[in-house]
Amino acid sequence: RHISLIGAPTDIGAGARGASMGPEAMRVANIQSILESHGLEVQDRGNLVGPSNPWQPPVDGYRHLPEVTAWNLAVHEAVHAELDQGRLPILLGGDHCLGLGSISAVARHCREKGKKLRILWLDAHADFNTSQLTPSGNIHGMPVACLCGLGPQQLIEIGGQVPAINPKWIRQIGIRSVDEGEKRLVHEQDLEVFDMRFIDEMGMRHTMELALATLDANTHLHVSFDVDFLDPDIAPGVGTTIPGGPTYREAQLCMEMIADTGLLASLDVMELNPALDVRNKTAQLAVDLIESLFGKSTLMRK
Ligand code: ARG
Ligand code: MN
Ligand code: MN
Ligand code: MN
Repeated sequence: RHISLIGAPTDIGAGARGASMGPEAMRVANIQSILESHGLEVQDRGNLVGPSNPWQPPVDGYRHLPEVTAWNLAVHEAVHAELDQGRLPILLGGDHCLGLGSISAVARHCREKGKKLRILWLDAHADFNTSQLTPSGNIHGMPVACLCGLGPQQLIEIGGQVPAINPKWIRQIGIRSVDEGEKRLVHEQDLEVFDMRFIDEMGMRHTMELALATLDANTHLHVSFDVDFLDPDIAPGVGTTIPGGPTYREAQLCMEMIADTGLLASLDVMELNPALDVRNKTAQLAVDLIESLFGKSTLMRK
C-alpha cells in the first residue's frame, strides 16, 4: 500500500492545549522511515492549515464551532484526495474532533466506490456527545454523534450526505469514560461498544474477533486511534487520561489482529499531546503500535 501522512496541527476541539504539536512529535518519532523500513512507500504531505485557537468559552454548547468546521473541511478534502488516488491516508492529529472530517471523507469514498465500511474507534471515550449533553462544550467529545447525523448542520453535512455513516458500521473498543447523558444516547443509537469491562472479562483476542467479524474483501477498514485508548501509565502524552486502559501487550494484539485482516485502508492517530508527554515516549509508542498495525510481526507470517 502507498501511504500518505497528513498533519493536522490543531487542538481546536480539545479542552487542553498541545495536541497541535502531535504531527511533529510523530515525525520526530520517525514514523515515515520506520514504515518505510517495512517496505511501505510513504509520502509526507506536510501540514494542513487552519484557524488558530482563540481559546474561548463555549457558545450554545460548542467551543470554537466555526474554527472546528474550517479544520474539518480541510481534513475532509485532504483525506478524500488521497483516497481518490488509491492511497492510504494516515491523519496525524490534532484533536479527535477531526475524526469527523476524516471519516466523512472515507464514507464518501466508500459510497463512490461501492465499498462497505467498518470503523474501529479505539478510545477511552465514546465521543458521542451533543451540545445538549456535553459537560465541556469541547467538540472532540462529539465527532461520532456528528457522523451519525446528531450535531450542528455545518458539521453533519461535511460529507455531502446526512448522516455520513450508519451507527451499525462502528465498533468502539477500550471505552471507559462516558458522560451521563451520553450513555443514554449510546444506548438509544445502539452503538456497538466493547468497553474495558468487556475486555477484562473476555480478553482482547475475543473482543477483536467480534469487532472484526463479518468483514469481507469489499470492506474498507478505517481505524480511528485516540491515543488516550492506551493506559496512561504507558501513554501519558494525552490531554484526557483515563486510568485502566489496555496494556502494551493488549494494544499490540489489537493492532496485530487488525493487520491480519489485510483490509486496513485509512487511519487517524489523534490526541497525542507532546506538551504532556515524557521525552516523546507516547509518540514512540504510537509509532511502535502503528508498525504492528501495518503488519510487523516477530516471526514470518504463515
Ligand atoms: N466526554 C468528555 C467531553 O465530552 C471528554 C471527551 C474526550 N474526547 C477525546 N477525543 N479525547 O468533554
Ligand atoms: Mn472521490
Ligand atoms: Mn479519548
Ligand atoms: Mn476520542
